[in-house]
Formats: sequence, structure tokens, C-alpha cells
Amino acid sequence: MTKSPPVTDWATDYDIFDPEYVRDPVPVWNELRGQCPVAHTERHGGSWLPTRYEDLQAFVRMVPEMSSKEPTVVPPPAVSDTDEYGIESPPITSDPPEQIPIRRLILPYFTAKAVAPYREGTVELCHSLIDEFIDQGSADAAVQYAQQLPPRIIARMIGVDPERAGDFVEWVRGVLEIGLTNPESRMKYRRIIREFFAEMVADRRKNPGDDMISQLLEKELNGEPVTDRTAVGMCNLLLVAGIDTTWSSIGAALWHLASHPADRRRLASEPDLFPSAIEELLRFYAPVTMARICQKDLDVAGVSMKEGDRVLLNFPGANHDPEVFENADKVILDREKNRHIAFGVGIHRCAGSNLARMEMDVALRVWMERIPEFELSDPDAVTWAGGQVRGPRNIPVTF
Ligand code: HEM
Repeated sequence: MTKSPPVTDWATDYDIFDPEYVRDPVPVWNELRGQCPVAHTERHGGSWLPTRYEDLQAFVRMVPEMSSKEPTVVPPPAVSDTDEYGIESPPITSDPPEQIPIRRLILPYFTAKAVAPYREGTVELCHSLIDEFIDQGSADAAVQYAQQLPPRIIARMIGVDPERAGDFVEWVRGVLEIGLTNPESRMKYRRIIREFFAEMVADRRKNPGDDMISQLLEKELNGEPVTDRTAVGMCNLLLVAGIDTTWSSIGAALWHLASHPADRRRLASEPDLFPSAIEELLRFYAPVTMARICQKDLDVAGVSMKEGDRVLLNFPGANHDPEVFENADKVILDREKNRHIAFGVGIHRCAGSNLARMEMDVALRVWMERIPEFELSDPDAVTWAGGQVRGPRNIPVTF
């Protein structure tokens, strides 16, 4: 990626890949919310950036005026992205009416009750990861812990080998992180993921098991059997949506606890706070920004948008709106009123939120039980990824 010129006016020329913004976007959102609540940029293919909670709610509800088809990625995909596999990952890349039955197909696998049986295995996994480094007195809490959890858990759910977790992380980063600004990486890893699932779907057709994919293949969509292409798209989504997101949230929570001793000690001594603390950390460090494309010229939230314009659904920014959250820029572990939208809102609201919450709850409880006292060993060595999914990628800690 060529280096972009520095931003001098965030309202008309924001840059979601600006290193300072990636590290801490909150000051920019606050400035924009006061001056220009829906900012615009020509960078990275051009887009609009709302920062007010109310406006986010309004944009998300503009169906069918705004579409999720194809480019839900934050910068638009290059033309060369088109290949025989397509880029559909339903339901996130579908609009109603097609989106509704596909979403209904996957929701039963992600209810609180459906994910509960994976809790015990998650607890064991967390302990076994910590066993590997606890005697060393130091670790990278992102690489050796947060990053290791979601790929193994989703692998178990969809019936693929959890030992391939390292591959899944590489593939998903290749698409969602490095691939955001590097079309070759995105194409390469998207193809690897699709080919992997195409093979798996073909195998499950012949040798069905009791895993989620085998079960999905036996279902119908609008009275027709689920096609291989739809099944591959759904698997792709589950892998891509379930890994970077949850890893980023767990990592951001650990980064916060490592760098805020008062909160860390409070959580260690008051474990009843875990449920509200998790919601608060999800609110504060919400990782996911999605996009929608205007289907016609629109006047909304005080700006005039043209057909084809891209709007970034800045859920993270909305979660810092002081109109909705008292002391919005403070982490308050026992915050009572917390209607955050880290999981989005409206028809595409995260289907995996129960799984994500379970993973975060187990990951943080086990860490705090085993390692209640820890701190950043080198704050300058912490790195953050931004764009579609924001979160820390390296968190060196000592304990
Ligand atoms: C902390 C972790 C997570 C966060 C913050 C998060 C956030 C989001 C957001 C903001 C959306 C809305 C997208 C939109 O409006 O276009 C979404 C959709 C979705 N998420 Fe998550 N997600 C997380 C974890 C997961 C997990 C673990 C899974 C499952 C493996 C998952 C599966 C999905 C699916 C299938 C959709 C699409 C729903 C639809 O289009 O109807 N997510 N997620």
C-alpha cells in the first residue's frame, strides 16, 4: 500500500487507515460528531462516515435504499476481485427478501442454548493455552491467547479440524486485514477459503456427519435444497465473521486490563462484574465497521448522497456518542444503561453474538483466574489493526 498523505481536515478527507486513527479513533469521532456528524472522504474509493448513534440507527434501517450486496467491505473491492467463486457470503451480502430465509437457517445454531455446550471445551482450551506460557512470566496476549480461541471454537462448530487454526487465522487476515488494502492478498486467501469449503461441502454431501455443515446441507431454502454455492458462501462468512471480530474484542479487553490497573484489580476482586464489564468493553472497543451502498440519491442525516455512494456503518463511533452514553469515553465496568451496538442493529444484526459473548466471558474469566496481575511489558510494542475490524494484534505482557 502506498503511504497516504496526512489528514488535515477530518470532516472532508478522513482516512480510516491513518495510524493514529487506527490506534485511537475516539478523539476524531468526538471532533466530527460536534462539527460534521456525517463526514466524507474521497480516499480509498470514497465514503461517508456517520458518528452519531441516532444517525447510525437511521442508516441501518434504510432498507432497501441501502444495500449490503457485495461490497460490505470498508474500501471497495478491486474489479479484479471477480472470479468463479463470486464474493457472496450470505446472509451478510444479501438484501431482503433473499436475506431473510438464509439468516433463519443459521440463527438456530447460535442461540444462547445452542452455544452453551461449547462452553466447557472453551474453558479447557483457555487453560491449555495459558499452561503453555504461564511459567515464562510473559506472553503475547493477542498472539498466544486471544487469536487462538475463535478459530478453534468455530472449527469445532462447523466440523473442521481445530488444529488448522493457524491456517484459518492466516487466511482470514489475508482477506480482512492485509487484504483490505492489498487486492492480491484478498484474492489469494479468498480463493483458498472457498476451495477449502468447496471440498468440505462435497465431502459432507457424500459422508454426512452430525456437524453444522452436514445439517445445513439437508435444509431447504425457499422450497429448494441448499446449493453448494450458498453453503460455501455461508461457511466462508462463519469463518471470516467469527474469527477477527471475537479475537479483536478479547484482545482489546486484555489490552485494557493490562493498561488500566484499577479496572483490572476491581474485576479480579469483584467477579460479579464480568457480565457488565464485558458489555462495557464491547461497547468501548467495538471492533466492526461495515458498509452499505446507496441504491439511489438520498438526503439523509443532513447530507446529500448519490446512488452508488458507500456509507461506513461506524458502530464503534456511535458507541461513544455522549447523547446516549453518560461519560461515553470512560470505561465503567458496572455501567447500568448500555444499549451499545457493537453487534450492529437491524436486519443484519450479528448472528453470532451469543457465541462471541460466551467466548469473551470464558476467555476473560479464565485469564483473570490464572493471571490476575499482569501489565504491558512494552506499550510501544502493541500494534493495532483497523479498517473493517479494529483490534490489537500484539499485546506483550508480563505477570
Ligand atoms: C465480538 C465479536 C463480534 C462482533 C463485534 C460482531 C459484529 C457484527 C456486526 C456489527 C454485524 C452486522 C453487519 C452488518 O450490519 O452488515 C455482524 C453480522 C454477522 N455476524 Fe458478527 N460479530 C462478532 C462475532 C461473530 C461470531 C463469533 C459469529 C459466528 C461465527 C458471527 C457471525 C455473524 C453473521 C453470520 C453475521 C451476518 C448476519 C446477517 O447478515 O444477517 N459474528 N457481526
